[in-house]
Amino acid sequence: MLYRRNASYVSDLGQSVVTALAPRRGEHILDLGCGDGALTEIIADTGAQVVGIDTSSEQIAACRTRGLNVFICDGHMLPFDSEFDAVFSNAALHWMNNVDLVLGSVENSLKKGGRFVAELGGKGNIKTLIDAFLNILEEHGVEPSSMASWYFPDALTYGTKLRSHGFIVDYIELFSRPTKLPFGVGGWLDTFGGPFFQAFPQGKQHLARAQAIAYIEPRIRDSEGFFWADYVRLRFSAHLPK
Ligand code: BEZ
Repeated sequence: MLYRRNASYVSDLGQSVVTALAPRRGEHILDLGCGDGALTEIIADTGAQVVGIDTSSEQIAACRTRGLNVFICDGHMLPFDSEFDAVFSNAALHWMNNVDLVLGSVENSLKKGGRFVAELGGKGNIKTLIDAFLNILEEHGVEPSSMASWYFPDALTYGTKLRSHGFIVDYIELFSRPTKLPFGVGGWLDTFGGPFFQAFPQGKQHLARAQAIAYIEPRIRDSEGFFWADYVRLRFSAHLPK
């Protein structure tokens, strides 16, 4: 599967978020945007009762091959009422643009005292890639707003949002984490470039892909020929009062 091949680093790098979650045997945990379930499985292996949700039917099918308890669901509309001891999320919240709906949903899903531990792309994330996309859209005379945008907040904004939904923020940090792209820029675009490509008619997408590669590669190639995306992470740990 393309995602598992091109994006296994997402879960490899996300293991430290699981460490921050510190799941315990018997806890009820929601993995919000569980992707292919690589981290969901690690959480389940601790003896926690994990439910995973994702909007992608392909990802949910991949999770089921691991025997995980998962279903298709949008993080803006979680159907849970005070059910979980913790909500976990890695590299998923930046795909969900209505932060108030998502945080309201997470708040409703948690029991009193429940924790929310997550990492998402933060302010400045993939700036080189986004600059490339905007440049190419302009060259083609396409409105920038035709590209679906990701949500990459800074720590102050997100911390304020968490507090406005009743959370106590224990830790929040924005940090750079240059990330090696094991299958190059083309591999990244084929896995994650949907929001960019959707701005073009089908017949132009191949050209847009080639132009994006030509723009990005020389800017992110290191002296040994590896490609490093300018990832910025926002990581936090918060909990609801008892
Ligand atoms: C990220 O993990 O930061 C990310 C991945 C794909 C698209 C945009 C951001």
